[in-house]
Amino acid sequence: MFGLFKKKGASNAGLSFDVIGVDMHSHVLPGIDDGAQDVSQSIELIRAMMDVGIRKIIATPHIMADYYRNTPETINNALAVLKDELVKQGINIPVQAAAEYFCDESFVAKLDKEKLLSFGEEDYLLFEFSFMTMPPDFNHTLRKMRDAGYQPILAHPERYGYFTVEKCAELRDSGCLMQVNTTSLTGYHGKEVKKFAEELIDELVVDFISSDMHHLKHAEAFKDALSLPYVRRLLTEYPLLQNTSLL
Ligand SMILES: [Fe+2]
Repeated sequence: MFGLFKKKGASNAGLSFDVIGVDMHSHVLPGIDDGAQDVSQSIELIRAMMDVGIRKIIATPHIMADYYRNTPETINNALAVLKDELVKQGINIPVQAAAEYFCDESFVAKLDKEKLLSFGEEDYLLFEFSFMTMPPDFNHTLRKMRDAGYQPILAHPERYGYFTVEKCAELRDSGCLMQVNTTSLTGYHGKEVKKFAEELIDELVVDFISSDMHHLKHAEAFKDALSLPYVRRLLTEYPLLQNTSLL
């Protein structure tokens, strides 16, 4: 009888993201980056997230000097449009806005000049690297983020081809938390990215998981991820920081 409850080979039946409840990286705000292009698309994505158990959304539009010159104003305006539509359609889910900052010179300059869009009790600051190369002076930038009072979170470390598990662990030891996309675990971004995401989980260097939802294909992959053993492990026995009430 007892063997029935062993974790090994356990089924994913009934598994949902309800366990974590909060999705803290998505592009569901309408019309301001490469995510939802209008509010009807925003609603579709949010419904898809709610269908798999998400109960709170922290939307994180890109802020990138060359492509998406978002500001707190553009982001809050888009959030207001979305919130109006949610009320109109009777959809009850808290949506909050922060950002996904592209780590370039303008980001470093902003750190000196203004209050950035962070979230949670720990002032979490979500940022991403270029897919081509890591900023050469990143340790300095990391120190600046922390000195300014933020708790940095690197978005999808598994997607940077030049990155290694060792480098991730080293950055994490220096105070940079790590957020893996659950869609990466489905193979959505290719075999290498999937393997890297699995290694990061095995090495216990993952702090947050999220959808990084831009469009309905991501919604499909987000749902598919629930059938994976790695995702079961993340949701049932892994020391994610998301499992706390800090968000
Ligand atoms: Fe993103």
